[in-house]
Amino acid sequence: MNFDMFNIKDKIPFKEDIFKGKVVFITGGSGTICKKQAEYLVILGCNASIVGRNPEKTVRAALEISKIRKDSKIVACPNTDVRNIESLEAAVNKTVKELGKIDFVICGAAGNFIADFNHLSSNAFKSVVSIDLLGSFNTVKSCFQELKKNKGSIIMVSSTLHYYGVPFQIHVSAAKAGVDALSKSLAVELGPLGIRVNAIAPGTIAATEGFTRLARASPQELTTKIPLQRLGRVQDVALATVFLFSEAASYITGTVVVVDGGAWQTSNVQ
Ligand code: HXC
Repeated sequence: MNFDMFNIKDKIPFKEDIFKGKVVFITGGSGTICKKQAEYLVILGCNASIVGRNPEKTVRAALEISKIRKDSKIVACPNTDVRNIESLEAAVNKTVKELGKIDFVICGAAGNFIADFNHLSSNAFKSVVSIDLLGSFNTVKSCFQELKKNKGSIIMVSSTLHYYGVPFQIHVSAAKAGVDALSKSLAVELGPLGIRVNAIAPGTIAATEGFTRLARASPQELTTKIPLQRLGRVQDVALATVFLFSEAASYITGTVVVVDGGAWQTSNVQ
């Protein structure tokens, strides 16, 4: 495998093929963070279903990911809106038809924009909560039979916004707090079925759509405020994903893994 051609310069500290024969279903799979999660899983042997609302982005991402390994199978499920359970069920059916099953689910689809309370309409608030929170519920709901059959594992993509008060992010903070609650309750309820449920809370991750849209300080300014003295990389989130889906995390459920260089522990980041 030539990892360099995909700009994957870091050595991945996991055994090759640990996910051979597994299938991941990933919503928001064409976004910067989720695409990297998919790439790392595929590098390690997983087949993947890339699920997204935007048809061009979703198909392009699936095509790029399919070039990582000759023996991988990648499916694109474009035009899938996580707010609509029928749309997700169609994506699940396509995935199972083409890849045979679903073992891992990443609830990554998210919506965000900066808006102060006064300019945040009821519909705007509802849109983001519907994508992030209801969308995560719908994703698990539509994958449930597969997860149950295969004793699968779920990762929700959360955030650290709701650990403290972040202005102009009321909608996302509320949605992600709900995502954490959903994740923990599901972990308890689905644990006896052998299904693990965890969340990853990325901090400031460079070169992402979220960073471009949301960062209000320069990268240099932010870096000095982060205890580990660098911005996050999409690879950092991907590595946490690999860990949580791997056998190394087989006794871990109901947790939120914060990937933020220690930022939220300080009082001076944001
Ligand atoms: C105020 C806004 C707005 C803005 C949209 N709205 N953008 N209000 N400021 N900048 C309002 C609209 O006016 C409308 O309300 C309502 O939101 C719904 O907007 P639509 O465009 O009709 O909805 P839709 O097409 O479904 O789009 C959903 C969306 C959009 C969330 C609003 O931004 C989107 O599709 N985003 C997907 C991609 C995305 O956001 N990726 C970022 C991921 S980064 P009215 O009242 O007018 O009807 C990320 C990082 C999170 O999530 C982690 C944080 C650290």
